[in-house]
Amino acid sequence: MKGPAPGPLAGRRVLLHVCGGIAVVKVPELITTLRRQGAWVRVAMSPAATAFIAPMTLQALAGAPVATALLDGGAGEGGHGMAHLELAQWAQCQLVVPATADMVARLAVGLADEIVSATCLASPAPLVVAPAMEAAMWRHPATRANIARLEERGASIVPPVEGRLASGHEDVGRLAPPAAILAAVAAATIGRPAADRFAEPGDRALAGARVLVTSGGTREPIDPVRYLGNRSSGQMGAALAGAALRRGASVVLVTAAPPPPPAPGLTVVQVETAEAMLAAVLEALPPARLALLAAAVADWRVAAPAPDKLRRAGRGRLRLDLVPTPDILQHVVQARPPGCLVVGFAAETGALLPSAQEKLRAKGVDLLVANRVAGSKSAMGGGRAAALILAADGRRRTVAYAPKPQVAEAILDEAVRRLVPPTPD
Ligand code: CTP
Repeated sequence: MKGPAPGPLAGRRVLLHVCGGIAVVKVPELITTLRRQGAWVRVAMSPAATAFIAPMTLQALAGAPVATALLDGGAGEGGHGMAHLELAQWAQCQLVVPATADMVARLAVGLADEIVSATCLASPAPLVVAPAMEAAMWRHPATRANIARLEERGASIVPPVEGRLASGHEDVGRLAPPAAILAAVAAATIGRPAADRFAEPGDRALAGARVLVTSGGTREPIDPVRYLGNRSSGQMGAALAGAALRRGASVVLVTAAPPPPPAPGLTVVQVETAEAMLAAVLEALPPARLALLAAAVADWRVAAPAPDKLRRAGRGRLRLDLVPTPDILQHVVQARPPGCLVVGFAAETGALLPSAQEKLRAKGVDLLVANRVAGSKSAMGGGRAAALILAADGRRRTVAYAPKPQVAEAILDEAVRRLVPPTPD
């Protein structure tokens, strides 16, 4: 296939998932514009999509074979005949268009019985979903719930607009204009390296390096059934681990959240309390070149958890005696091996910059990533975050509210560029 043109999406690998709706007529224009903006485009079509438009038409426009079936050896170069796995790895961004009510539901549930939903499930690439359907379907509580679920998991939704629908009615449900869809694709690829750089095996900046990541919210026991905890989901830590693995690192993820799916090069250590997290971190630290401490560690624990369940009957008010937990980040800064870069995180509800500057200084880290953890764009618990990255060298970078895998890519880029090359033995 002919190389990408220079443009705003230069070298980005966009996987276009085409579904069966009348708005499919807009797909040829989208493919042409994506390519004009410099993206590499590959196409997967759901079975219903092929009833609306011939794969050959999209193949000619994309300049690459179109995948129409789960087991589609001809579509991939992976050699195992499983197109969805090869495409899932290839994509830097996935765009589902026009996303029918049926496809939105399939993606929300996580079905995998045809090429589009299976690839979306198998790929770590950010997902942009551009729905188009009749207004009643768009407004139906089932679709609303499915859309909310996709957003929670970090998908960008490009909402449909008002106009004439297939039924002849004027209402909301028409596919968003190409400019809005392309803007969402551009936002989803920010901070991601261009494909040609990405594909270069010699450019795996963390090849052979150990990266330590902490994630999740610790749970400090009150009694055998209750604990003190927080709203952290562990998604940022999992995204950081993924971004480090993509750069060739071996990753130890010490997490108080449910573990991410197994991946080559990933070791997961599950812990519950701050004390247990500290022990696991100090054990994994010695060979690390990069430590990313994204966990929401409880700052206090119950001094003496009750050995048996505390009974409510006859008790009235209950006072807990809390004592401070160890500051894991401080331990890491003090115990880090030479050349190991340490990245701290700051969860803030007030003004971001002054607290972040103070934590950068007080904690002695190389990079501090500050997240807002209150309000509608809270970084805690959901699939998206915004970040302010402060470096000890005085530089600052703002990452706009985006899916956590994208924010993680930006954090890794900042960390990698500050790593000191290892000295030869
Ligand atoms: N952290 C840690 N151990 C603790 C508390 C926090 O390692 N017991 C780490 C977090 O993983 C994060 C950084 O310290 O990388 C900052 O966490 P944050 O909760 O924002 O700040 P605190 O140090 O707890 O300060 P405060 O609660 O006053 O904001």
